[in-house]
Amino acid sequence: MEADTTRRDEVGTSQSVLFGRPRHRDFAIGVIAGIQHTIDRAAATVPTVSDVPAGSIGRTIIAADDLAARVAELGAEITADYQGRRPLLVGVLKGAFVFMSDLARAIDLPVELDFMAVSSYGTSTTSSGVVRIVKDLETDIEGRDVILVEDIVDSGLTLAYLRSVLGDRRPASLEICALLVREGAEDSGARYAGFPIPPDFVVGYGLDVAEHYRELDAIRVFEPE
Ligand code: IMP
Ligand code: MG
Repeated sequence: MEADTTRRDEVGTSQSVLFGRPRHRDFAIGVIAGIQHTIDRAAATVPTVSDVPAGSIGRTIIAADDLAARVAELGAEITADYQGRRPLLVGVLKGAFVFMSDLARAIDLPVELDFMAVSSYGTSTTSSGVVRIVKDLETDIEGRDVILVEDIVDSGLTLAYLRSVLGDRRPASLEICALLVREGAEDSGARYAGFPIPPDFVVGYGLDVAEHYRELDAIRVFEPE
């Protein structure tokens, strides 16, 4: 009985990784398409589902246990540094969502959460340096202790842009907490940095390639074909 369940789960998991949970996806698309249709028939767009990127998932660079241990350390550091304050964690969607949810629970202080979404005009695996705010904060950050939470600092361009945009809003303090920092970008200015990362393109723990593999529990290399 139990062995059966395990086998089914394994098949289910590998299919999910490959095909992005097709039944849930189709359902969600149906719902979204329906809502848009109701709001504005003329502007209604049906989102397209990105194809599974050509390539494969390679070696694990950071295992789930190591991620958890490092996030706990970062949480403890932030807890010590922000005693008596109530920091506002600002997550950069979508990549930071997994890290941010673990980090928030690793900080032993009352925190507030908000999110921004930015889109870079580059392709899925390179950054153009031109950043557009797709979703802005709901919180007025003037006078707040803001910690910007990023998945990865690669060229550092996204971060430089966000730092200047948020800095203009006169927070009491503004620090960066990045899970990964690309080797060579160490002077990113991130006060809290999880792991240095080699040049490989990585996915998992929130990071994607063309919206795939965010759900993997470890940081793994994506090897394009
Ligand atoms: P930057 O502006 O070059 O620092 O790029 C930062 C953004 O690029 C990140 O927030 C990610 O969304 C994306 N990115 C950069 N490198 C990777 C990677 O190896 N895997 C997945 N996304 C990446
Ligand atoms: Mg991304």
